[in-house]
Amino acid sequence: MLRECRRTASLSFRPVAAMSTLLINQPKYTWLKELGLSEDNGGVFNGTWGGKGEVVTSYCPANNEPIARVRQATMAEYEETVQKAREAWKVWADIPAPKRGEIVRQIGDALRKKIKVLGSLVSLEMGKIYVEGVGEVQEYVDVCDYAVGLSRMIGGPVLPSERPGHALIEQWNPVGLVGIITAFNFPVAVYGWNNAIALICGNVCLWKGAPTTPLTSVAVTKIVAEVLEQNNLPGAICSMTCGGADIGSAIAKDKQVDLVSFTGSTHVGKQVALMVQERFGRQLLELGGNNAIIVFEDADLNLVVPSALFASVGTAGQRCTTTRRLMLHESVHDEVVERLVKAYKQVRIGDPWDPSTLYGPLHTKQAVQQYLNAVEQAKQQGGTLVCGGKVMDRPGNYVEPTIFTGLAHDAPIVHTETFVPILYVIKFKTEEEAFTWNNEVKQGLSSSIFTKDMGRVFRWLGPKGSDCGIVNVNIPTSGAEIGGAFGGEKHTGGGRESGSDSWKQYMRRSTCTINYSKDLPLAQGIKFE
Ligand code: UN1
Repeated sequence: MLRECRRTASLSFRPVAAMSTLLINQPKYTWLKELGLSEDNGGVFNGTWGGKGEVVTSYCPANNEPIARVRQATMAEYEETVQKAREAWKVWADIPAPKRGEIVRQIGDALRKKIKVLGSLVSLEMGKIYVEGVGEVQEYVDVCDYAVGLSRMIGGPVLPSERPGHALIEQWNPVGLVGIITAFNFPVAVYGWNNAIALICGNVCLWKGAPTTPLTSVAVTKIVAEVLEQNNLPGAICSMTCGGADIGSAIAKDKQVDLVSFTGSTHVGKQVALMVQERFGRQLLELGGNNAIIVFEDADLNLVVPSALFASVGTAGQRCTTTRRLMLHESVHDEVVERLVKAYKQVRIGDPWDPSTLYGPLHTKQAVQQYLNAVEQAKQQGGTLVCGGKVMDRPGNYVEPTIFTGLAHDAPIVHTETFVPILYVIKFKTEEEAFTWNNEVKQGLSSSIFTKDMGRVFRWLGPKGSDCGIVNVNIPTSGAEIGGAFGGEKHTGGGRESGSDSWKQYMRRSTCTINYSKDLPLAQGIKFE
């Protein structure tokens, strides 16, 4: 559940690794140098590279070996970076939006060239399988393409004025500096969604990635910085300050940061939200999920089984869109459980970068502990363990993908987002019951039904259907495309990133009334003479 807790804890347990033992110095990992990485990396960028703060070592979750080190930002470097970013904004805001789009197009192309090597780094440092690592770089590329088109389309309407000789228009302007705080689980894509859209809107960005994926933050920033440099633009347009909760809080409290986009746990998101609200700043929150798939009696089970497998086991259960609750109609319950358990047992577990692997490690040792705690609680609350439930006897943070049946729909553990691969299977009888249970959790991110009944589909999409931001039919809860708005309701935070009209969150709107007549008629027919 607490994405940040795990990563903060991991820092305090681990010593800074000696140079000789670093993976980056082993011949097998020399490809890391193609990303401009070395043993020691500056974790600050604001046009020039810096990093005078705490040195952190990044570990590979598949074997807990140290990869390389990153020097985080001091508070003084943070302050300096904010100043440089705000200076850079003066240049960037004057560039016409389609020209900004051209820069974003070049960023997309630069990412395309490095997609495999960057995807490999994500796999090595975050622990997700290689195709998913490449997949999230692809999300950044896709959102760059989307943003290029958008750079010629954003704008407001000209509205009919009730007054003669008056024009009523909406003008959209950039907010200024966007602070982007991202989580370990999507160390490239989530930055990409924010960065590409914020840039074409005319904002500059300051990124703080997760402290356990700093090499990915550095590598992405190097790619982006090179594009800015080639175009003679200030590097501080895309700034970065690696750090922990100190830098995160500084961003949240800093009135010079016009919008804080935060992705992470509901717990930390709430603290961030309160800090930002305290200064009437703007925020964009993408927090936890407790996503359900509901399978009705008429569902195509050949779609259900691979969907539930991908959404619950994929990324080792560490997506905010992961399926945590599988609600099965009583008529298909036993068959789906049987088929799913069989599918779980065939999942190829291994090194995340091995092309045949489907399932890799958890990101940290602390996540393994959270997994064990959740397994224990599920047992205590009446769950029947039908698959998995154990830590695996191999190096790295591997746990077995796990299924529980027999828990009450409202058992406390079922209502808790534990960021691990545990699926709770719940039996239901009626549509009303299933829809109610879908909505009874605090989070409201993603949801999905499997059915062929068109009436039910539209009830699901309607006012008494799912209350989530993502409402699917006959597909899993995870794996959203970038073209739609991404985010959710309630404790998920209400923010929307990526496609559709999410760009509006990165801009401020002015309603402008322009009198081009020689009279001064007042609205509402008021005479003031
Ligand atoms: C996240 O887990 O924070 O829909 C983002 C998905 C991905 C994004 C997940 N496109 O699963």
